[in-house]
Amino acid sequence: MRDKYLEALKKQLDEKIFIHSLALEACMGGLYDYFKSNNLLSEDELPKEDWLLAGLIHDIDYSEPFKADHPSKTKEALALYGLEVSESILNIIKSHSPSNTNVQPTTKAQWSIYCADSLTGLIMAVAYVYPSKKLADVKVSSVLKRFLKEPKFAAGTRRDEVAECQKPEGLNIPVEKLIEVCLASMQAIAPSLSL
Ligand SMILES: [Fe+2]
Repeated sequence: MRDKYLEALKKQLDEKIFIHSLALEACMGGLYDYFKSNNLLSEDELPKEDWLLAGLIHDIDYSEPFKADHPSKTKEALALYGLEVSESILNIIKSHSPSNTNVQPTTKAQWSIYCADSLTGLIMAVAYVYPSKKLADVKVSSVLKRFLKEPKFAAGTRRDEVAECQKPEGLNIPVEKLIEVCLASMQAIAPSLSL
């Protein structure tokens, strides 16, 4: 089933956003595993496959003719390819951009997509400046330093949103932990990210 979504994404998105989509899918899986293994998921959280799919397709409508209404046109973009997802997955996706959708994150899945979305770009940017350009060489401490002390580095990173991972009612983890989980998740799929 994932293959069909991948095919649609490849057709609908440019290479950069396609790769970002794979990165966020990996982060969502890693965050699910982290919360699950620490008994931090309540009964009403969605299953891991929903977290993964939400991460994978969250930007499918960040493309014409839907871009102006991103991320509220996921359904319409998927329909172009005869695909659909549940309302719960659409709600996870909407919560990654509350300013456009008015859907505030409330569940761990929603907070995860909200906080991790722009962190993927910062992590990749750290790898790009290494001579090796390999994610495998990136350390949590290097990402954290760039995040905290170099606001102009990967300036598109929404550092305020990433830092909201510390909110007790949200993910309730330090930024360092979010970076650790996301970095490891992305390292595990580094070849797909061309890093
Ligand atoms: Fe995104």
